[in-house]
Amino acid sequence: MSIYLDHAATTPMLPAAIEAYVDAMSVVGNPASIHSQGQNAKRMLEEARETVARSVGCDPIEVVFTGGGTEAINLALKGLFWARAPRRRILVPGGEHHATMDTVEWLENHDGAEPGWLPLDRAGRVDPARVADALGTGAEDVALLSLLAANNEVGTLQPVAEIGEIAAVHGIPVHIDAVSAYGQVPIDFRALSGAGRTGASGGAGGSAGGIVALSLSAHKIGGPVGIGALVLSRRASIVPLIHGGGQQRQVRSGTQDVAAAVAFAAAASALGDVPARNVHLRALRDRLIAGVLAVVPTAVLNGAAPDGPDEQRLPGNAHFTFPGCEGESLLFLLDAAGISVSTGSACQAGIPEPSHVLRAMGRSEAEARSALRITLGRDSTGADVDAFLAALPAAHAQASRAGMNDRVPTR
Ligand SMILES: Cc1ncc(COP(=O)(O)O)c(C=O)c1O
Repeated sequence: MSIYLDHAATTPMLPAAIEAYVDAMSVVGNPASIHSQGQNAKRMLEEARETVARSVGCDPIEVVFTGGGTEAINLALKGLFWARAPRRRILVPGGEHHATMDTVEWLENHDGAEPGWLPLDRAGRVDPARVADALGTGAEDVALLSLLAANNEVGTLQPVAEIGEIAAVHGIPVHIDAVSAYGQVPIDFRALSGAGRTGASGGAGGSAGGIVALSLSAHKIGGPVGIGALVLSRRASIVPLIHGGGQQRQVRSGTQDVAAAVAFAAAASALGDVPARNVHLRALRDRLIAGVLAVVPTAVLNGAAPDGPDEQRLPGNAHFTFPGCEGESLLFLLDAAGISVSTGSACQAGIPEPSHVLRAMGRSEAEARSALRITLGRDSTGADVDAFLAALPAAHAQASRAGMNDRVPTR
């Protein structure tokens, strides 16, 4: 038995994406070449760009293909920061994905950036009022603001539109890491960016204000690993990370990967009606949450409450703390029972770390080590949920007996 409940880490590739990938790989031609084979490759690439653009409501020219979500985030953060020199402050919530946290820390250590970490509440949400406060007390030195559309561990959706509006008033460019939200909740870049927004120039040498950049990754929606995109508004000024042939508006040089783009587009076009698909995911997730709380009554659900159509939680995410258990022990025991889940937190050389997201949400070190994330995808079934619920009590009993390791101090 092998049951995959770790769709937030990566999703199985869709058969349509595999087929499109394989077919496109046998097509020869560099899309920058003038001859007809090059032009055929270019046509395939540009059609893929149009499909990806349609899936997030932006113009095709705004889609900059990258080597994945991590690269898109690096490009947005470093590129906007450099374009906004000499401004130094980067506003960013705690509990972001490591692609953001580590990039901000790199800019701090190598380029004089001054991170302004914004707090998360107990549900993992950023309060727009805190953003308004941070910008109210000196927006002049703020280079950019970056935040997740949805937290990839606890699944909390962020009020990105509201925060984007606040930043726009001050002319501050905003990057959204939409990697975990993509395909789970609708994304409308045109509406978020307030297309055609006027009067928020950000000043000389700056970038336009409000939401100007948004990162995506193909492997979270059934596409291949190794391709993503930075949706970059035409209003934005950015300094490229990679120099070379000047492809993709000079923003990301390098011969473009037509086959990967075509496979990405196949997955993007299969997203279909995202809210309609949420109904199935949400129902399965609610069954899972109710089941966990029934079989392990001491379990604590983390993140926003799943409570109706306006809930601020990803439809495929369930995230719990199991007091007195190492999340890592539960993960290994469930794996032995044929079920793949995650602690959600980063792994350094194969050793899971306490969740920095739960820490940012005000939880103790022990709670941050007792977490388990179960994430559902389009192919998840009621039988998968039932198998997980059947395996959980024994795994929980055994992990409770093992208790907490004492390698990290608890409080
Ligand atoms: C929220 C979030 N941002 C960024 C990334 C990185 O994307 P990629 O794996 O395509 O580099 C991930 C992947 O885990 C993610 O969940």
